[in-house]
Order: sequence, then structure tokens, then C-alpha cells
Amino acid sequence: MIKLNYSNVTTQIIGDEGLDVEKSFLEYAPKIQEIITNLNMNKDKPGFWLQWMNLGYNEETVWYVKEFAAMVEGRFDNVLVLGIGGSALGAKALSEALLKPYWNLLDKEKRENLPRIFFVDNIDPDEINALLDVLDLKKTLVNVITKSGSTAETMSQFMIIQERLKNLLGDDYRKNIVATTDKQAGILRQLANEEGYKTFVVPDDVGGRFSVFSAVGLVPLALVGIDVDEIIRGIKIMDLTLKNTDITKNIAAQNALLHYLLDREKGKYISVMMPYSQRLKYVSDWYVQLWAESLGKEYDRNNNKINNGPTPIKALGATDQHSQIQLYNEGKNDKVITFIRVNEFDSELQIPNIFEYTGLNYLGGKSINRLINAEADATAVALCDYKRPNITITLPKINEYYLAQLFYMFEMQTAIIGELYNINAYNQPGVEQAKNYTYALMGRLGYEESKEELDMKLSRFSS
Ligand code: PA5
Repeated sequence: MIKLNYSNVTTQIIGDEGLDVEKSFLEYAPKIQEIITNLNMNKDKPGFWLQWMNLGYNEETVWYVKEFAAMVEGRFDNVLVLGIGGSALGAKALSEALLKPYWNLLDKEKRENLPRIFFVDNIDPDEINALLDVLDLKKTLVNVITKSGSTAETMSQFMIIQERLKNLLGDDYRKNIVATTDKQAGILRQLANEEGYKTFVVPDDVGGRFSVFSAVGLVPLALVGIDVDEIIRGIKIMDLTLKNTDITKNIAAQNALLHYLLDREKGKYISVMMPYSQRLKYVSDWYVQLWAESLGKEYDRNNNKINNGPTPIKALGATDQHSQIQLYNEGKNDKVITFIRVNEFDSELQIPNIFEYTGLNYLGGKSINRLINAEADATAVALCDYKRPNITITLPKINEYYLAQLFYMFEMQTAIIGELYNINAYNQPGVEQAKNYTYALMGRLGYEESKEELDMKLSRFSS
């Protein structure tokens, strides 16, 4: 199992800036027990948005995903994922972590005949045009993913690509499209029905940022040969562990409570996610969205205006030791840093013993593997010297099983801390607001009133 080490947030290590963890666990044990019990009790109830807790048990979807991947195997050189936010970040983070680094640059043989994978989760015309210049669309399977079926970024990308596919392939263009969307609602569902695309469903009551283990994440991952059965095994084992209502045995509850108390009692409202592994770089992007969209809320459940905001930040070890760590050590003491460490990398790289200089010969004969973890240790100790709370999550290896555990643990941690803050972690009114303004600005029917108001506000910027 993955491990959580929170000793560097304790008063024993960082004094008054830290927490009396044992006392806090004792004090909050009944509250945590109540939260976990309620989450499990409510997970099947419509409208609670807790269906993500059931995704490890959705055998039917897993079966259809694997069947589809097997059916199209060998037919495409590329998978192109169109989606944004929760519809892209999970699969992007997991594929980056689980595929061999530089996957898209490997030749077909080294990819074992599996396709390359590209994520377009932005609407930068230069980037999209450049990608379309290098991709052979005839040999590309396009997975368009949007729960609402109408997100402007995703649907505009899709409209551009669908037209090109049609021009290239005539009626056969449909074979290059797979749509993942709501089972009934939304324009993409309507379009898919009319045009006859292969489709997968974003289940009811699963929000975008909690959807990585639904078809949203599993389809693209399976298409590039990632072992979805191992992912499911990882979710299930973690789910089982996290059903334990005893905080001393539940790492998601522990990490949720520690972050909550560090924020509320010690003013550490910034959560820095810092994996010491290049392959885990996008795990931070996924975490940042999960934390920010779930926990940044104006009102609590009792309608009190609270402007809740534990702010997430992404960092990367060892790279950001040479940029952000100065701030984390000596700047405002308002952060809790989470390191993700990997015990055993897939490969080993020795540093040759080729220079006699005393400033270099200590490196020779050692491995880069040892260096990266020594740097993680050194950074953690330095933070403690400065009395900065930090937490380490350790993965035995980077593989499907452990990453599924990690992602599921973060989801549960977010759900639990959401309850501690007494907020709805599953809505995103702030995101919807900007989406609606975009619709209005682009002239979507029904948004005329917002358009007038917006034009007035925008004229203030330009004057
Ligand atoms: O987590 C969320 O709910 C959001 O980030 C959505 O995933 C994002 O806005 C994309 O929405 P949709 O899947 O409807 O295109």
C-alpha cells in the first residue's frame, strides 16, 4: 500500500507551527467517524454526487472499455483526447505517469503497436493548428469527452476536427470518433445518437474532477495499453481501507484533518503538491483542480458566506528546489507541502566516477535514483528546520495499482475535508459563471441578457 508520513507536522518536530496530532485525532475521532459513515451511507443516493465511490465496482463499464480497446487495437496510430478540466486531467496525469516517458516519440515497435496519445485541453489556435499539422487524422481515434456535452472549449475543438475527419474519410469518419458524455442529456449525446458515434457514459452523480475512474479516464487509458484491471484492484483495496471509520487507520481522514487543522488553527491555507518524479508531474495538476474546485467555495452548507479557500499549488521535485523552495523555507509560513516519493523507479541510472574534483567525486559511483530521494529528504529536513509543516506520501513503485490508490485516497481526502469545512465539495458555481459569460460573449441563444451586461462591464476595461 502507499504510505502517509505526517511526523513533520507534529509539534515534536516543528514546535508551535505544528499540531498535537495525537490529541487532534482523539478529539476529532467522533466527527471523522460520522463523516465516513455518512459518506458510505449516502453514496448510492441520487443527488449526493458520491457515485465516484462506486467506480471501483463498475464491472460492466470496465468490460466494455476493455472490449472497445481490444476491438480497435492496431487500427490507430494516435489517440486524441478532447476535453477540459475534469474531463481530461485525470487521464492526462495517469497516462503521463504510467506510459514510458517520451511515449509519443517512441517508434511503433517500442510502443508495442499501441497508439500515441495527445490531450488537447486548451483552445490555443497555434497549438491546435500545430498539432493538426503533425497528426495524421486518418489514423487518429478522437475521444471527445464532456459531461455537459456543450463545453465551448471541447465542442469547438470537436467541430474543427470532425469537419476535417469528414473531409478526409467521407462517411467512414464516424469510425474515428468515440464520445464520452452523459447518458441522455446534452448536445454531444444528441449528436452522437444522430451521427452514430461509439459512445461511453459519464455516470450520473459523478462530477468531472471525480470522474477519472469512470469511462472518462478508463477509455483513453485502455486505448494506450494501460492495465485497467490493476487500476480497479488499486481502487478497491484503497476503498476497503478508507471505509475504516477509525482515524488512526484511515490515511485519507488523517490527511484531511491535518490539512483542515493546519489551515484553521495555524494559518497554513496553501497546499503545495510536490512529487519527486517527473512522471508524476501532472498528478499535481489533477490534484490542484480537485482541491481548488471542490474546496474553494463562497458559502457553506448553511448559507453562511465563508469564502473558503485552501489554495493548492503545484511544484516538482527536484526541479522546483531551485525556484520555489526558497519561498517555502523563508517566505510566509502559510503552506503545507506534500511530497510524493517513489521508492523504486523502473530503471536505475549510475553516475560514472570520472572526475576527481572533491566537489564532484562524491556523486560518482552513486545512482541518480539515490540522488533524487536524498534531495527529497534534504528538502523535508530543511523545511522542518524552518518550522514548515510537510507530509510525505510514498509509492513503492509507479504503477497502475499504486497510482489508483493515490488518486482514490486524494478523492476521499477531498470529500472528508469538504465535510469538515461544511461545504458542498461537488458543485462549481464559480466555473459555471465563467462558462455562461463565454456563451454570452460568443452569442449563444438564450444568453442575450448576460451579453448586454457583459458588454457594459467589458467597455470599462477598454476605456
Ligand atoms: O470538475 C468539473 O466538474 C469541471 O472541471 C468539468 O470537468 C469541466 O468544466 C468540463 O466540463 P464538461 O465535462 O461538462 O465539458
